[in-house]
Amino acid sequence: MGNRSEVLRVYPVYKQNQPIHKPRRIAKVVLILACIVLPAIAVSCARQQQPGDIRDRSTIKIGYFGDLSGPTIDFGQSAKNGALMVAEEINQAGGINGRKIDIVIEDDQGSPELAATVVNKLTRQDKVIALIAGGASGSSLAAGPNAQSAKVPMISPSSTNPAVTQIGDYIFRACFIDAFQGEVMAKFSYYSLQAKTAAIMLDFNSPYSRDLTEFFELSFSKLGGRVISKQSYTQGDSDFKGQLSSISAAKPDVIYLPGYYGDIAVIAKQARQLGITQPLLGGDGWDAPELWQLAGDSINGSYISNHYSADDPSPAIQKFVHDYKLHWGNLTPDAHAALAYDAMRFLVEAIQRAGTTEVEKLRDALAQTKDFSGVTGIISMDSERNAVKPAVILKLQDGRYIYQETIHPEAPDSAAKASPSASPSKSRKK
Ligand code: PHE
Repeated sequence: MGNRSEVLRVYPVYKQNQPIHKPRRIAKVVLILACIVLPAIAVSCARQQQPGDIRDRSTIKIGYFGDLSGPTIDFGQSAKNGALMVAEEINQAGGINGRKIDIVIEDDQGSPELAATVVNKLTRQDKVIALIAGGASGSSLAAGPNAQSAKVPMISPSSTNPAVTQIGDYIFRACFIDAFQGEVMAKFSYYSLQAKTAAIMLDFNSPYSRDLTEFFELSFSKLGGRVISKQSYTQGDSDFKGQLSSISAAKPDVIYLPGYYGDIAVIAKQARQLGITQPLLGGDGWDAPELWQLAGDSINGSYISNHYSADDPSPAIQKFVHDYKLHWGNLTPDAHAALAYDAMRFLVEAIQRAGTTEVEKLRDALAQTKDFSGVTGIISMDSERNAVKPAVILKLQDGRYIYQETIHPEAPDSAAKASPSASPSKSRKK
C-alpha cells in the first residue's frame, strides 16, 4: 500500500473524462505490476525463510520458562543463567549455522497453571522452535501437554518426575528420574549410614515429593529397612512441629525430606529446636544458594542426592564453574544451572546435527542424542527421552555441599524405567 499512495501523491488525481496521459499510464502499469510482483516476492521470501530452512538467516527463537519469582525462585534463576550462558557463547562464536539464538523468557512464578499459559504464549505467539522448562516437576507436568500439542520440543533440565517425559514424544529431559533418585538415597541410607529405620515427611501437593517418597520407601524396604513414620505438609506451611514431634517419638535412624528448599529450611530449624539430631536427607530440591541463608546451621550434617558436584575436580566441571562465576558475579553454579547449560548445549547440538529447526526433524535429532558430553555427565536419550546418568551424594556442612560418592545406574535401561526396582550400583568414595 505504501507504494500505491506514493504514486497517487506524485501524480495529479485522474479525472474520469480526461484522456490518460502517458505518465499516468506508466504509473498505472507500475502499480499493477507492483500489486502482482510484490506479493509474489514476499511469498517467495517467506518460503526461503521457513524456520526449518538451513538458509534462514533470522534468529533462532528458543523459549525459556521457569520460576523467576515465588517460593522456588532460585531454581528458575539458576536454570535461566545456565541457558543464557550457552546462548551468549554460541552467539559470540557466530551462532548456529550463522543464525543467532534469541531466548524469549517467561516467569511462571512456580505456578503449574501459569507454566501452562506461558507455554501457549511462547509456542503460539512467539513461535519459538524449542522450549527449556526451568521449573520443578509440577510445572513441567502442567506445561508439557501444551508443548506436545503445539509440536514444539521441550527439554526439562531438572524435572525428575517420571511422568514428565511420558507426556509425549516432544518432551525430553537432561537429568535422571526420581525412580533412580529415590533408590540412590535409600541405598546410601542403608549401606553408608547404616540406617535400618527411616521417617519421611513429604510435600503432599508436589508430584516430585510424593513419588520420591514412594520410590525411597520401596527401595529401602527391599533392602531390609523400615519406614516407621510418614508425615505430610503442603508448600508454604509455617508450623511443622506436630509432624516433627511424631517423627521424633518414633526414633528413626534417618529422616527423609523430599521437598523444596524453602520449606526444608523451616522444617530443619524446627527439627533442631525440638532436639532432633538424626541426619536429615533430601534430593535435588534442596540445591539452592538460598538454602543456607534460610536454614543456617540447622542443615549441617544433612545429605542430598544431586546431579553434579561443583567441587568435582574434573577439568570440564572446573572450567564450567570458573566460566559461570565470571559470568554471573561469582555465583557458584548449582545443579539446576549446570543442567540447564547442558540442556541448551544438547539442543544446539541437535539443531546442528539436524541441519534444521523444523520441528519433526529436530525432535528426531533430540531423541537420537547419544554420548553427549555434558557438565553433568554423558547424556544419551533412552527410549523414553530420559537421560541415564549417575547421581552424586553431597554432605551439607557450613555453607558447602561436600561430595561423598557417586552412584551409577546398574544397567542403562533399567534405571530409565519408572520403576523403583531399577538397581543402582555404588562407586568410588573420596
Ligand atoms: N528435580 C526436582 C523436580 O523435579 C527439583 C527441581 C527443582 C527441578 C527445580 C527443577 C527445578 O521437581
